[in-house]
Amino acid sequence: MSRRTIVLDCDPGQDDAVAILLALASPEELEVRAVTTVAGNVPLVRTVDNALRLVELAGARVPVHAGAARPLLRPLVTAEHVHGESGIDGAELPPARRRPEPAHAALAIARHLLDPTAVRPTLVATGPLTNVALALALHPELARRLEGIVLMGGAVGPGNVTPAAEFNMYVDPHAARMVFEAGVPVTMFPLDVTHRVLVTEARLARIRAVGTRAARAVAGMLAFYRTRGRTGGAADGPLHDPCTVAWLLRSELFRGRSCRVEVECESALGLGRTYVDLHGVTGRPANAEVMLEADADGFFDLLCARLARLD
Ligand code: RIB
Ligand code: CA
Repeated sequence: MSRRTIVLDCDPGQDDAVAILLALASPEELEVRAVTTVAGNVPLVRTVDNALRLVELAGARVPVHAGAARPLLRPLVTAEHVHGESGIDGAELPPARRRPEPAHAALAIARHLLDPTAVRPTLVATGPLTNVALALALHPELARRLEGIVLMGGAVGPGNVTPAAEFNMYVDPHAARMVFEAGVPVTMFPLDVTHRVLVTEARLARIRAVGTRAARAVAGMLAFYRTRGRTGGAADGPLHDPCTVAWLLRSELFRGRSCRVEVECESALGLGRTYVDLHGVTGRPANAEVMLEADADGFFDLLCARLARLD
């Protein structure tokens, strides 16, 4: 399978951090042209700084761009109670030496993925979709150029921030609706599949034992995050965001179904809910491949092997 050109749009966040490191540790499969950041788990000023520190931890020289500091219409909702004040509590990373690039994330997404040299241009999104929606609004031709958008967000069943909605979709439901209606092939990793990829004590110990500086930082972040990221009485926290990158590296780790997905933007109680038409009852054409099953052991095998490549 040929190498892909990707941009990773994220709101680090410990699980976003693992997605960044996994992508940067996989140069044979992924050319990461940029990491773009959005407000979400923590305010933009923190997600940008976290992305700069993580790119340097990976020893990469990938540009980092700041994007939207708030959703398109809604007020910003953050999740420090899950991720800590910094957003990557538990990592203990040194201050970044480099600064973010001057261009806005939405413009950087368009520039990098419209570039004729981009191969199988793919946008990976692991935070609220504000930057993605802005990029598509500013450059509608992007919808035809992208091979796909691979995103973590939404839920077939219950949400994690309200009974109806998953956090990324809840924070910016209007952006999410724009993305699902843009005509770009979407590969969606909802809570239903990411809750099968749990950070157990044994997996945490395995990551720590990899012994690289990056692996120790991941172990520190996940030790902080795993108990706070739990929902539904689960014993361990789900590792949401890196499922997107793992699918790009080894798609056989996941299985899904082609479905129609629509986003609730009107109901106060249901705001951000993703209506996933698993059984095709609406008769509306599918707009997403919705992942429902995961090989969690295979995922952690991949993650540990790739973290071992970093310093
Ligand atoms: O609901 C989980 C998602 O919201 C993850 O992407 C996490 O990082 C937060 O952004
Ligand atoms: Ca995220």
